[in-house]
Amino acid sequence: MADFPGILGRYPGTRMRRNRRYDWSRRLVAENVLPPADLIWTVFVRPGNGETEPVLSMPGVERVSPDVLAKRTKEAYALGIPAIAIFPHTPPELKTPDGGEALNPDNLVCQAVRAVKDTVPEMGVVCDVALDPYTSHGQDGLVHDNYVVNDESVEVLCRQALNQVAAGCDVIAPSDMMDGRISALRLALDEAGHDKVLLLSYAAKYASVFYGPFRDAVGSASSIGQGDKRTYQMDPANSDEAMREVALDIDEGADMVMIKPGMPYLDILRRVKETFAIPTYAYQVSGEYAMLMAAGERGWLDGERALMESLLGFKRAGADGVLTYAAVRAARVLNG
Ligand code: PBG
Repeated sequence: MADFPGILGRYPGTRMRRNRRYDWSRRLVAENVLPPADLIWTVFVRPGNGETEPVLSMPGVERVSPDVLAKRTKEAYALGIPAIAIFPHTPPELKTPDGGEALNPDNLVCQAVRAVKDTVPEMGVVCDVALDPYTSHGQDGLVHDNYVVNDESVEVLCRQALNQVAAGCDVIAPSDMMDGRISALRLALDEAGHDKVLLLSYAAKYASVFYGPFRDAVGSASSIGQGDKRTYQMDPANSDEAMREVALDIDEGADMVMIKPGMPYLDILRRVKETFAIPTYAYQVSGEYAMLMAAGERGWLDGERALMESLLGFKRAGADGVLTYAAVRAARVLNG
């Protein structure tokens, strides 16, 4: 009790179970809540019209064409979800070593942003900045002599961001982990008159095996092959380094920061939120989603309750919100 000088209660006068006895009292003492307003829905798009196709390693997730996405976004917005993050499945024939398709004003992600903004202008639209959906080697930047080069990549990433903003994107979310990209993006956006576009930095992004199903979903798995991203994404062994990454990104102009993956990194989330008190988001990544759904499908877990518990866990750990493929499903549960 030394840490809690005001608390003198002890058994049997104090019974912790009293507050837990009824549904009403449990609700009354609940310290954390997860409203739909804290969810960012992560989605995959594919080319075409009226198209949907399942992502096999992510049960319940589909890649859809921009028109279908626009319709679904309307439903998501009605459920109280404030923002979506769009990831493109680029046809392999459009992928090149320099990822040039990222700069095409009519590329898939730009089409999707325009379709969503035309249909639901109030929905916040987040775009990832990184070249991996567009490069034939599947790396997030340009490769010279087998190394992902930093400064040249940042220049292209700035042009990618400007392209997405021109299509109507509200939030630029760089996931590439190049050094100096936040200040470069802020400068590029401001110089182009986009000083109101938000920067959500993937500040502490780890080189994680939990991104596996995502790479299937956007079709970069075969491109990256046995390659990895450990020369730019963080080592899962590190925590202090995450604090430096976040501090640098805030200094460079990030409006919000993200920790990724989510569930194995709740300690990082808590440390970042407590130290910096900046809007902080957790990304429940594809592999986390796949694990929950797979166990649910087999009847090994109650999938829905496991999902809701995992999302609430992010809030308890300090997240202001969660990026999740299950946002619509969770929002339906939350809305009863
Ligand atoms: C691209 C990117 C990745 C994810 C989001 N943006 C994959 C990667 O870095 O290899 C992963 C998301 C997920 O697994 O759900 N840079």
